[in-house]
Amino acid sequence: MRNSQDDPSRIEQLRGEIERHNHQYYVLDDPLIPDSEYDRLMRELLELEARHPELVSPDSPTQRVGAEPLAQFDEVRHAVPMLSLANGFSEQELSDFDRRVRERLEHEGEITYAAEPKLDGLAVSLRYEKGRLVQAATRGDGARGEDVTSNVRTLPSVPLRLLGEGWPEVLEVRGEVYLPRSGFERLNEKARRLGEKAFANPRNAAAGSLRQLDPRITAERPLDMFCYGLGEVEDGPQGASHIESIGLLAGWGLRTSPELRSVKGVQGCLDYYKDMEERRQQLDYDIDGVVFKVDRRDQQEALGYVSRAPRWAIAMKFPAEEEMTRLLDIDVQVGRTGVITPVARLEPVGVAGVTVTNATLHNEDEVRRKDIRIGDTVIVRRAGDVIPQVVRVVPGLRPADATEFIMPSTCPECGSELIRDGDKKVTRCSGGLYCPAQRKEAVKHFASRLAMDIEGLGDKLVDQLISKDLVHSPADLYRLDADTLSGLERMAEKSAGNLLKALEKSKETSLARFIYALGIREVGEATARSLSLHFGDLEALESADRETLQSVPDVGPVVAMHIHTFFRQAHNLQVINDLLESGIHWPAVETTPLSMHPLAGKTLVLTGALSRPRAQIKEALQALGAKVVGSVSARTDYVVAGSEAGSKLEKARRLNIDVLNEAQLDTMILSGKDQ
Ligand code: IVH
Repeated sequence: MRNSQDDPSRIEQLRGEIERHNHQYYVLDDPLIPDSEYDRLMRELLELEARHPELVSPDSPTQRVGAEPLAQFDEVRHAVPMLSLANGFSEQELSDFDRRVRERLEHEGEITYAAEPKLDGLAVSLRYEKGRLVQAATRGDGARGEDVTSNVRTLPSVPLRLLGEGWPEVLEVRGEVYLPRSGFERLNEKARRLGEKAFANPRNAAAGSLRQLDPRITAERPLDMFCYGLGEVEDGPQGASHIESIGLLAGWGLRTSPELRSVKGVQGCLDYYKDMEERRQQLDYDIDGVVFKVDRRDQQEALGYVSRAPRWAIAMKFPAEEEMTRLLDIDVQVGRTGVITPVARLEPVGVAGVTVTNATLHNEDEVRRKDIRIGDTVIVRRAGDVIPQVVRVVPGLRPADATEFIMPSTCPECGSELIRDGDKKVTRCSGGLYCPAQRKEAVKHFASRLAMDIEGLGDKLVDQLISKDLVHSPADLYRLDADTLSGLERMAEKSAGNLLKALEKSKETSLARFIYALGIREVGEATARSLSLHFGDLEALESADRETLQSVPDVGPVVAMHIHTFFRQAHNLQVINDLLESGIHWPAVETTPLSMHPLAGKTLVLTGALSRPRAQIKEALQALGAKVVGSVSARTDYVVAGSEAGSKLEKARRLNIDVLNEAQLDTMILSGKDQ
């Protein structure tokens, strides 16, 4: 008998189940099973499909990950054209619209409208045949769009098969694909980190993501979709009203707006408009207005179309989210981790109902890239909770005396030197523990497990201690007493006592932990250990010059620069002094004299793919007195082999030479002991 796992009919069952869970999770926001169970079903399906590749179909949930890139998009002719909407900008225009509707229909009394948000994304048409998604197309010019099927398949809220029953043989669903604000922020943060161009707004980001020739890129973008209408419908129900048809779509598993309402007459429309305008900032997506549609289908049909828009619908736009104003000055702000952000000071301007006087400029490179100068006229955008941004300069309005922004050389909060991190395009304050903006993070790091390991000193507590001005630097932690502590929120007498004990206990530590706890940039736990072994005491480390620092394994020019700068800041030395006075101590460290290091005088060959640049490893080895050569011979002491090592590794084996992997090499470098 066949084992149930090998039964191909199980494939169909799994697909149905997975799509139902997708719908629960992405459309209804109400998962029925834990993620782990969902993953298990998906794994089972993947395994079965791997055993029966002939049964893989494009509407299997396993196919959502993103297909192979396309050379270009095919053209799609829309069976029913994708229309646009007439716009209204005032109460007057809305009541004119309503009057025209009533007159044409010769309707007495109030018209019932379906009211819904006008989403600021891009219109897409989904085509289902026999309940399966066969095509997705952009609006294009309304008559012809682009085939973006592979991309749309990656949207988790778009069903690949319709749920429920009774769907028409052919069903075209129209809706808006958009990028949620949260996803937009994440995407732009990543772009900035990688030095790539950020998107101006979620709409552009959604359009850019959907019109990707490589669906695997689309799959990484958190796109979503709301369905708001029908195109071609054959052999099946479509509802006697707009609200009914949206209800049918929801029943078939499509995502529809939870903001859809039935409203009566002009007053009902106005109330809805005001309500949405107030709530617009709380939504996780951009809307640029609301749409009112005559609800009854027979009335829609009687009204018909004019040029390319229906006579039965009108869009009422909200005030713009982008406005023009003058850039008065550029200041800098210090963030949590010491990152310096240039901030535009603006001539006050109302943007979407709020007066904006400041806008972020992200970093120095952004200012240069957008060529923003003090005195310029700029476009400011404010959308949702997102902090206002300067989108671009209006070049024609630049005054002759506009001046370029110059990044200051010292921190505005604490006066420490600013250091530019070339790779990451950020500028940071070198003040470390001294800079108030960085204190919280520094104290948290200081107390963390691999540092001073102060049990019971959690993030919330640190926030309280700093905000209440009870702690300025880690040294102040050791001055806390039971009275002060028990006065804090969620701090009972017992936990205060425990924390004091933990603080006392943490005083007995190691030099390596202490160096790590100082939070010097780029000095991780391993580097701290290696510094401890090399210098043996704190004074030697403090007074080391950059060259000496670079002779320590694991320390390159950048790390050496950070260490050197750190110990040149008087306030850092003061904090260290206070810490030592509070009684922090450690056992003497046995340093490893270079000549005694097991790698001194040894000859090594590096081969295969290693996780760090060769030059860096070579430098560290040379600093210990080892030699790094290019080919393996009988005189080679060790071969360090990364992954995919080839002939050199073979030769080492033939000659019976010791082979180390990277981790073993690191242990040898750091500990100074043989493996
Ligand atoms: S209905 C026949 N409803 O606005 C009517 N459109 O200006 C066709 N849009 O291309 C559109 N939200 O991209 C409709 N709730 C909504 C909408 C909406 C956004 C967009 C859509 C369309 C454009 C028309």
